[in-house]
Amino acid sequence: MKDIVLVTGGAGFIGSNFVLDWISESRGTLVNLDKLTYAGNLRNLAALENDPRHIFVRGDIADTLLVQQLLSQWQPRAIINFAAESHVDRSIHGPQDFVHTNINGTFRLLEATRAYYASVSEKDRRTFRFLHVSTDEVYGSLGPNDPAFTEKSPYAPSSPYAASKAASDHLVRAYHHTYGLPTLITNCSNNYGPYQFPEKLIPLMISNAVKGKPLPVYGDGQNIRDWLYVGDHCSAIRLALERGRVGETYNVGGNSETTNLEVVNSICRILDELQPRDFGARHASLIKLIQDRPGHDRRYAIDASKIRNELGWQPGHRFDLALGDTIRWYLRQMSWVENVISGEYRNWMELNYGQQVAT
Ligand code: NAD
Ligand code: TYD
Repeated sequence: MKDIVLVTGGAGFIGSNFVLDWISESRGTLVNLDKLTYAGNLRNLAALENDPRHIFVRGDIADTLLVQQLLSQWQPRAIINFAAESHVDRSIHGPQDFVHTNINGTFRLLEATRAYYASVSEKDRRTFRFLHVSTDEVYGSLGPNDPAFTEKSPYAPSSPYAASKAASDHLVRAYHHTYGLPTLITNCSNNYGPYQFPEKLIPLMISNAVKGKPLPVYGDGQNIRDWLYVGDHCSAIRLALERGRVGETYNVGGNSETTNLEVVNSICRILDELQPRDFGARHASLIKLIQDRPGHDRRYAIDASKIRNELGWQPGHRFDLALGDTIRWYLRQMSWVENVISGEYRNWMELNYGQQVAT
């Protein structure tokens, strides 16, 4: 098999970071299948515009004919499935797209992959991999003193998003157990870094703060997430793909449990230094506690000892330092943010936050 991989969802936040890293670190060709929903943005990949090793195809992972055609044309040695609807709040307002892409889409992608896998030579079957990118949210919520999620933690998804990802994980696992498809699953914690759509906590707070807009923190702001720098996540995926044990799941975390209020206060402190407000006003004065998200999980924490012990992976970035770098990136790329904050996104702000921030 030639060194060709098929990436799905490669125009989204994590996918585009992965594609950029992959092209700069390997010699092979990458076929990028993305539907370009509101979350997909080809500007993220502008640096690859004239690079013949990046083949972009606009399309849906649920489009069986298209996926079959791509697999037979390119004969990839691996498929890395990032494509998903990924925002919890959107899944609360409208779960249908989550069922379409995360459940049906993954199912159809698996079916096409199964047929493709059966068609390649025995030698190629030995090296082929299907890696499914998933989330820690499938494990549900932890109490303050509970041990962190391991790969053996029971699935207990709370939101429609988490439930749809859990369903996709089960399908992937079943295709390994039933059909022998050489799958891998990675379940990671909250990512942050360049190119994240400004509906998620960190880019939303940066984008609002620089405009002097309210910073909407849900509930009491004491919910805990474990923050993972996107570049570290991409290196974990590459390692799992090359050296992970077939059929296994690997948890990937940043070792950085932090409450939402701490995250937002850190962003405000860094912005006070980088871009002071008029008359010495503090960015933190923009923080506003608002009505909680329905079913809001209290705490996520990842035990990443399996991937550390088996594959030697650990996060290379410290949250406080990489958060500063991320903020500097967004300040340099405000035109990217503005370009993203258009049409559909504005409607979304009004639906989710109503009058509270949609000024
Ligand atoms: P994202 O929403 O930024 O990007 C998703 C991408 O998938 C977009 O480019 C979109 O156009 C594409 N897409 C959506 N539906 C599609 C379909 N039917 N066919 C083809 N393409 C489609 O998401 P992200 O934050 O980059 O997340 C990538 C993956 O990582 C997802 O599977 C998500 O569940 C998982 N994950 C994300 C995080 C996080 O913190 N962002 C944490 C854990 C797991
Ligand atoms: P988010 O970035 O949506 O990721 P997830 O829900 O997948 O963890 O949210 C991260 C945390 O920040 C989560 O506890 C919800 C909270 N949050 C707010 O307090 N305000 C906001 O406006 C958003 C988008 C999130």
